[in-house]
Amino acid sequence: MKTSIKDLSTIFSTLEGKEVLIQGWIRSNRYQKEFGFINLNDGSNLHGVQIVYDNKLSNFDEVSKFRVGSSLTVKGIVVLTPNAKQPFEIKANLVKLEGDCPPDYPIQPKRHTREFLREHAHLRVRTNLFNACFRVRSLLAHAIHEFFRKKDFLYVHTPIITASDAEGAGEMFQVTTLDFENLPKNKDGSIDYSEDFFGKPVNLTVSGQLEAEVFALGFKNVYTFGPTFRAEKSNTTRHAAEFWMIEPEMFFADLNDIMDIIEEMLKYVINYVFDNAKDELEFFDKFVYPGKIKELKDFLNSKIIHLDYRDAIEIFNKSGKKFSKPMKYGDDLSTEHEKYLTNEHFNAPVFVTNWPKDIKAFYMRINDDNETVAAVDLLVPGAGELVGGSQREERLDVLIERMKELNIPIESMDWYLDLRRYGGAYHSGFGLGFARLVKYVTGIENIRDVIPFPRTYHNCEF
Ligand code: 4AD
Ligand code: MG
Repeated sequence: MKTSIKDLSTIFSTLEGKEVLIQGWIRSNRYQKEFGFINLNDGSNLHGVQIVYDNKLSNFDEVSKFRVGSSLTVKGIVVLTPNAKQPFEIKANLVKLEGDCPPDYPIQPKRHTREFLREHAHLRVRTNLFNACFRVRSLLAHAIHEFFRKKDFLYVHTPIITASDAEGAGEMFQVTTLDFENLPKNKDGSIDYSEDFFGKPVNLTVSGQLEAEVFALGFKNVYTFGPTFRAEKSNTTRHAAEFWMIEPEMFFADLNDIMDIIEEMLKYVINYVFDNAKDELEFFDKFVYPGKIKELKDFLNSKIIHLDYRDAIEIFNKSGKKFSKPMKYGDDLSTEHEKYLTNEHFNAPVFVTNWPKDIKAFYMRINDDNETVAAVDLLVPGAGELVGGSQREERLDVLIERMKELNIPIESMDWYLDLRRYGGAYHSGFGLGFARLVKYVTGIENIRDVIPFPRTYHNCEF
């Protein structure tokens, strides 16, 4: 019977004395004169399985020299070992080398730094840390789809190449087929984009929100989950140039409605990880972020705190803590402020609502005070801003006014204004940075270690 090590670990007790066939990579190989032990890992779980072999194997001498990282096919008998650390092992009848791994293999069984492993991102998936991380990442993606499927949200694929700047922040990567050595020029010396592939300048999307809003007018509740790109030159542990984002958009929903969905969704996906990756969470709790399991359980068992932006400012100013700059109304929160709220003052995730309009995007709905917008950021320990969302400005005249103030090109965004002209009504949505979610759930500090092949400022390997 050919089986994965994960399946074997759940059904081994029914297989006592039976022969199984497993395939994977050697994590360690220790041998003595007459017998030896291989820890074989096939990626399906963290622990792998212990293979015992002895000198009755015709190729015993060869097997004892098989090296870490080599791939094997093993046939052997399931032996229950109730008194040992692992509840069963495989007594080998056949050990066949599929792919040798010379001793210069960089991933040897010892502690490697994260930086070293990042430089070997093509090999690091064969370590426990990255095995656990990317399995949790995969489970989280699955859980997100499952959550929205159960709620009957339509999953829409919004475009990756787009002609609009959804955030109006100008942090876009341009997409072009023009020859930089020989740019077509207009008479006035400017670039002639009519010769470019799309006949005009276009870019990689920073957010699928605006197109998700289009779909929300037809389907009421929708979400997009795809790659987004930011040409932000920030070199931090939480910014990437390419990351996946989950962006739900809900018609006839206000700011409170989306905060409810954010909370429900996060609890759903974290419960899903507890149900499906207990070993991985224990691994993170032990080796990566001590206390992570308790932190996540506390989150599951409490209601997320809601805090008005103005009250947050008051908390900073009354804290008696010395921040690098004093906070006043109108300032954006920096990392140290976010950290103070989530790691010191509340020691929990917190929704910060009703932000000054000048530090937020053009599409956010202006509150009655005419100064703040109906926006929310969810701040979490370890990952900072995990979610950003808002009620959308549905009043055509107010939106046009705001776009003019912020120099957003009104003509090319006329389709977006049509959403207000034709049956538009109050609606809201949010964006959850998927890499930051993986950071929060695993406790892994650097965003470069939760993205399979990270792209950051001045770094695009593989
Ligand atoms: O706050 P942001 O910029 O919001 C939007 O893009 C909205 N259009 C979302 C919406 O309402 N549909 O980004 C949303 C989230 C942030 O809260 C953060 O988690 C993540 O995306 N994010 C990043 N993650 C990694 N690297 C970056 N450079 C990120 N920038 C934002
Ligand atoms: Mg934001």
